[in-house]
Amino acid sequence: MSAALQAFDVSISFGGVQALDRASVEVTPGRVVGLIGRNGSGKSTLFNCVTGFLKPATGRVLIDGRDVAGEAPHRIVRAGVARTFQTPRVDLKTTVRQAVLCGLFPTVKRSLMSALFGLAGARAEERELQRRAEAVMRELDMMPLADIEIGKLSMGRVRMVEVARAIAANATYLLLDEPAAGLSRAEQEVLAREIRKLAGRGIGVLLVEHNFSLIRLLCDRVTVLDAGRVLFEGTPAEVECDAQVLQVYLGAAAETSAIGGEA
Ligand SMILES: Nc1ncnc2c1ncn2[C@@H]1O[C@H](COP(=O)(O)OP(=O)(O)O)[C@@H](O)[C@H]1O
Ligand SMILES: [Mg+2]
Repeated sequence: MSAALQAFDVSISFGGVQALDRASVEVTPGRVVGLIGRNGSGKSTLFNCVTGFLKPATGRVLIDGRDVAGEAPHRIVRAGVARTFQTPRVDLKTTVRQAVLCGLFPTVKRSLMSALFGLAGARAEERELQRRAEAVMRELDMMPLADIEIGKLSMGRVRMVEVARAIAANATYLLLDEPAAGLSRAEQEVLAREIRKLAGRGIGVLLVEHNFSLIRLLCDRVTVLDAGRVLFEGTPAEVECDAQVLQVYLGAAAETSAIGGEA
């Protein structure tokens, strides 16, 4: 059995749009893999297929060798895959602390659940969850925001809350969908540092990102999607040398100032 999160030959279409056409991507523990391609190339759809939000028409999704294609999202979280969404899915009325605590739930065992609902040992268990939530917030420099309502934060910070919530799930694989969009340079640096730390701890990170400087800085390998197909797979340096990728990707660069952009 290989320790990896793998999607093989995943296809799905929406009406007449073939969003994914036998797309494959793989990340192993401790590695950071970039998933790039212009808008509409299928990156978020591939995340949705891997995390159970969409059921692929064909293909396999393996978590450490076990096929989970089509399983419900909560089962995939429990199997060790956490994610963020391109458009954050957070309740604007909750505080940052509450959102991160929610992220911890996949890690809570049944006994701990009972504890949370007022049975024996409740206070000690709750303190432990609070401690773990604070540890995640501290790593992301978010403690000053802990008790602020998410609705009062900038979009960049809301994205960071999503990242914090996903990290709290203590997953083996973390899928981040454009986490750096709208972040200030300082916030991007915190995010980049955190992604490196996560990889150092053995977490496999799949990163959708338009800023190629960040991809170059963080990724061991990159998969390039174009119109739902894998156009290229290689190291960031190889991606930059491939004429076809450059041609496709420079199109994206015009849209999003991708390649050569500042981290
Ligand atoms: N739920 C959906 N219903 C219909 N079309 C969709 C849906 N999700 C994605 N698509 C289409 O699938 C293609 C890939 O979209 P997406 O995965 O969001 O691209 P990316 O994340 O690379 O920008 C696009 O043509 C998009 O319009
Ligand atoms: Mg997307």
